[in-house]
Amino acid sequence: MVDLSTEYLGLKLSNPIIAGSSSLHKSVDGVKRSADSGAGAVVLKSLFEEQLALDAASLTDQASFGHAEAYEYLSKIGMSLGPREYLKLIEEAKRSCSVPVIASLNCIAPPRWAEYASQLEAAGADALEVNAAILPTNPEEDSSKIEERYLRIVEKLAETLSIPFAVKIGPYFSSLPNFCSQIARRGARGLVLFNRFYQLDIDPERLCLAPGYRFSFPEEIYLPLRWIAILSGRVGCDLAASTGVHDSQGVIKLLLAGASAVQVCSVLYLKQVQYIEKLKQGLEKWMKEHGFRSINDFRGKLRQQTAEDPEAYERLQYIKVFVGIE
Ligand SMILES: Cc1cc2nc3c(=O)[nH]c(=O)nc-3n(C[C@H](O)[C@H](O)[C@H](O)COP(=O)(O)O)c2cc1C
Repeated sequence: MVDLSTEYLGLKLSNPIIAGSSSLHKSVDGVKRSADSGAGAVVLKSLFEEQLALDAASLTDQASFGHAEAYEYLSKIGMSLGPREYLKLIEEAKRSCSVPVIASLNCIAPPRWAEYASQLEAAGADALEVNAAILPTNPEEDSSKIEERYLRIVEKLAETLSIPFAVKIGPYFSSLPNFCSQIARRGARGLVLFNRFYQLDIDPERLCLAPGYRFSFPEEIYLPLRWIAILSGRVGCDLAASTGVHDSQGVIKLLLAGASAVQVCSVLYLKQVQYIEKLKQGLEKWMKEHGFRSINDFRGKLRQQTAEDPEAYERLQYIKVFVGIE
């Protein structure tokens, strides 16, 4: 018998496969489907502040208020209407599933993060995933200022929350190791590497913007794989992998690299959520074949920190003598 159980953010998971945040988890039925299909935990669809602001704006339009105080008042109503459904989702998901339920929050303005986060905690979320995404477009704004914006959010949440939280980020930082350890030092229990954002495309016939393909490809796993292998054991918090995990080999590779948990999303759309069971079976079979009885027997075995050849993780160029191809 092999034991798939593991720990992530201090939570006990029956297995390391987490059904990641997406619209599959915007209803209790969806959350339950992923839990019943064997996920170790489920991350809910993010609560987006932008969405709430739009709701509030439409409320103010309807009421035809031009007055600033009235706007502020109605904005608050809008904000409490939006989360109300989300809070209900957390409460019902907690009631109907036995796996940990992780709420997800995306906000723009720092004071709001703490306000919403404590509501999600009070509704019973086991943990929070902070979907933090700032797209830098201003050539005058330097990277330290942008990173400081993320870190202020983390600090505020650490002051406010009793439940653990992880920060889900994209891969575009000049010194990812430094940034990740700062996030951990300011109080995050975990990092989710990486978010795969909405892809922007261009329609050359209609000469306008268009949405790109929304699902990942299995080849995209190389990015989180390298970074988890480099960061594992070094940044002071758990690492969950996200992006490009489409099969059990992907799950195994990321655990070997040092991930505490592995999130899946696109593959659940492409192959149905029941596919989680197949991922688990593949992991279990591989563990048996290799004589591993628990996840900790092999987790992080191929991280850079303990590697005999740490330089191999840092190779970026196709130099034949090192990588065998040119
Ligand atoms: C349709 C769709 C909706 C998503 N919604 C969210 C979301 O609300 N919050 C979030 O943090 N990530 C969201 N994601 C990103 C996924 O959680 C995941 O990080 C990303 O798709 C990469 O993982 P994958 O390769 O397994 O798909 C969404 C992805 C898809 C495809």
